[in-house]
Amino acid sequence: MSSKVSTEVWKPDLFKGKVVFVTGGAGSICRVQTEALVILGADAAIVGRNPAKTDAAAVEIAKLRPGAKVILCSNTDVRDVKLIAKAVEKTVNELGRIDFVIAGAAGNFLSDFNHLSSNAFKSVVDIDLLGSYNTVKATFEQLRKNKGAVIFVSATLHYYGIPFQVHVGAAKAGVDALSNALAVELGPLGIRCNCIAPGGIDGTEGMLRLLKDKQTFIDKVPLHRMGTTKDIADTTVFLFSPAASYITGTVLVVDGGSWHLGSSHGGEGYPVLIKQKNSETVTKL
Ligand code: COA
Repeated sequence: MSSKVSTEVWKPDLFKGKVVFVTGGAGSICRVQTEALVILGADAAIVGRNPAKTDAAAVEIAKLRPGAKVILCSNTDVRDVKLIAKAVEKTVNELGRIDFVIAGAAGNFLSDFNHLSSNAFKSVVDIDLLGSYNTVKATFEQLRKNKGAVIFVSATLHYYGIPFQVHVGAAKAGVDALSNALAVELGPLGIRCNCIAPGGIDGTEGMLRLLKDKQTFIDKVPLHRMGTTKDIADTTVFLFSPAASYITGTVLVVDGGSWHLGSSHGGEGYPVLIKQKNSETVTKL
């Protein structure tokens, strides 16, 4: 049994002959999604900005299955559609095709509105939303040819007005809308589009930044545990597998039921108001 994906559930070689193109593939969530697909037979292209991080991820993921081909397309900023097009060209040249796309590249930091510049807001919206659009744009011909499928990595924070996440919430709401519209428009071409919305996943960058007290968080999760990267890997395998062939235009929330409880779950809670010396009132974490 693999600690990365439920190999006792999924058939070996389920994705033999398939190729996945992953933006953000060196990051915590997208990396395990890629690992699961590679373990189950797929080859992969890891697309990212940071050459060292992307390179290391590709080498380590390739070791998970004898014969696996994992290539890297580093120095690829998803905000530039021409750079993604080059990564697609390289992938098709070296791996022959693209069947699955994971649009996972994302930017995140905590900032109150008062300190969030227009450029900071734009940076995150550009990476998450425009980057997801660009990724589908650049892979479209391959998706059409191979009747492929896309998974967008979304979130649950935009279901509420989460403080200090104005930029991320707006971006992820856009990602959900993008996925829904593309699912409807591209469905007749045989292309499926879905979102995975992870909740609190143990060990991810987001949780390390947001979580103050793990047990308090767990107490508020209906399934009473943190999510694991394996939960996301299994969901990814399901959505790309033939078992999900009639599923498109959905957001699959993987959060142990937390989002039903409202915005108070996890995170930093509500900001405090602080009166400064000049009697201006600001919000603080
Ligand atoms: N708080 C407030 N503003 C911030 C910030 C923070 N922690 N970090 C960056 N910014 C602002 C910058 O000041 C800049 O705005 P300005 O021009 O008005 O000063 C703007 O955001 C862009 O910053 P820059 O570093 O030039 O952007 P970038 O495009 O190189 O980086 C980020 C993108 C900002 C999203 C960066 O956090 C990043 O690269 N993150 C990738 C890793 C990551 O977040 N992973 C988590 C995945 S969930």
